[in-house]
Amino acid sequence: MNEKQIIDWLREEDERKLSVLWREANDARIVHVGEQVHLRGLIEISNICVRRCGYCGISADDRQIDRYRMTEEEIMDCVQKSVDFGYGTVVMQAGEDYGITREWVTKIVRRIKAETPLAVTLSLGERPDEDLIAWREAGANRYLIRFETSNRDLYDRIHPPLGDKPSDRFAILTNLKKLGYEVGSGIMIGIPGQTYADLARDILTFRKLDLDMIGVGPFIPHPETTLGKELPCAQAVEQVPNTEKMTYKVIALTRLVCPEANIPSTTALATLNKTDGREYGLMRGANIVMPNLTPPQYRVMYEIYPNKACINETSEACASCLPLRILNIGRTVGSGQGGRIKRDVEKSEYR
Ligand code: 5AD
Ligand code: FES
Repeated sequence: MNEKQIIDWLREEDERKLSVLWREANDARIVHVGEQVHLRGLIEISNICVRRCGYCGISADDRQIDRYRMTEEEIMDCVQKSVDFGYGTVVMQAGEDYGITREWVTKIVRRIKAETPLAVTLSLGERPDEDLIAWREAGANRYLIRFETSNRDLYDRIHPPLGDKPSDRFAILTNLKKLGYEVGSGIMIGIPGQTYADLARDILTFRKLDLDMIGVGPFIPHPETTLGKELPCAQAVEQVPNTEKMTYKVIALTRLVCPEANIPSTTALATLNKTDGREYGLMRGANIVMPNLTPPQYRVMYEIYPNKACINETSEACASCLPLRILNIGRTVGSGQGGRIKRDVEKSEYR
């Protein structure tokens, strides 16, 4: 698919035509990643952050919120739950928090790898190479860092650099791959100022980077952030809307362009449609869900955007809810770590 064809789909409003897109994406999902929906237990280990991202509710600029950092024992309790609930992967995510040291993460990763059969995914921000090397050597399997938008000007506007070092997430992604991580990235949909052409290029960038995991979700304005306070320029014809429908289009197109990738049906999507947003994501190309394992007292403090789905649920509630949702749409709950399976992608007609 080329940029023009992707833009045409993104602008498509005819439900009959869109049903073709949903079906083709679902067919590609069946062929390339199958019926299993893999579960990744998410532990939000700290909401402390040195960055000042214009979109994010735990940015260093937000002085209102209470900050926390989980202890090793609290994290290991969540890891045990991941094992008990049958999740194959644990994801440790945090703000860019340098109170989380290289040595501390190394120790926890070693413990998880020694004591459990889980895959370990890290999502700890733009850390120095030395950290990424040490964590990989300790046994971390995967790393997630979204590039948010492939439009450099827009990125610079919403994601200021730290000090005088420019933020280059593409360089980090390349490096992660070189270090042998499975690499995940992604974008937000409907960032103020994001155009249809930007979004089409984001999707083509996923292909160019040959990502193992691709997470996409709607931009949800947070009232305490600079972007959340900005007046929406939704009237502009080129502005992408931050809607549920646009999110499904991006999930479906991402599946067609990157048929082998692991694609989550994200919490941000579930936030826009708490009833069955996750299910529609899974029926239109996604094959992963990320149940939250963060203890409830910390969950409420990790409000990167408002009204986050499952913010008041316990880990146990999500652990019984999600498998039922998966079975209800005729899919199976994945077993094992659910890493990327490389097949002969060139056979896909959409590449
Ligand atoms: N709306 C939607 N997604 C957001 N993220 C951060 N803030 C928001 C928001 N206001 C996403 C970013 C980030 C990921 C952890 O969460 O894409 O990379
Ligand atoms: Fe958390 Fe349904 S996934 S309650």
